[in-house]
Amino acid sequence: MSYAIKVNGKVQTVDVESDTPLLWVLRDTIGLVGSKFGCGVGLCGACTVHLDGVAVRSCQTQVSTVGTKAVTTIEGIGATPVGASLQKAWIDHDVIQCGYCQAGQIMSASALLAKTPQPTDVQIDRAMAGNICRCATYTRIKSAIHQAAGQTPALAAAPAPRQVLAAAAAAPTKGA
Ligand code: FES
Ligand code: FES
Repeated sequence: MSYAIKVNGKVQTVDVESDTPLLWVLRDTIGLVGSKFGCGVGLCGACTVHLDGVAVRSCQTQVSTVGTKAVTTIEGIGATPVGASLQKAWIDHDVIQCGYCQAGQIMSASALLAKTPQPTDVQIDRAMAGNICRCATYTRIKSAIHQAAGQTPALAAAPAPRQVLAAAAAAPTKGA
């Protein structure tokens, strides 16, 4: 069947089966591969996108149910003020490790901040609970969300852990 869905502000017409997961449509049909396949059963959050601003698991969302709702993916979230603030905070805090879960993390965080601009730790924990990170970047994710919310100063001036490691690796070895 043919479906016209609005993705990141642009209407896309796709010809797929009605029960095709939105994640498949985004990645395989439209070519937006930022949203990731993790578990495929709604448990990991790697595939999270927004439908009219609400975070949903795209692996569990059939394309036929999208209708006229606006789909926003990690490729489009930076165009929103909240998304841009989060992306900057993610960089400042050097949140990302392997990166696989991070698109979903930012999509859940942006849905949270759009609804709750000044979240408490408990509210962050609740909103992010369904997003699993096997690299355990949870502490940095929480710090980045607080920065994006304006609750803590930007960390841009501080060297990120990766920069510190790179500097240490480049330093001459003592006695060499
Ligand atoms: S891939 Fe959708 S929740 Fe894991
Ligand atoms: S950064 Fe590796 S799974 Fe989250």
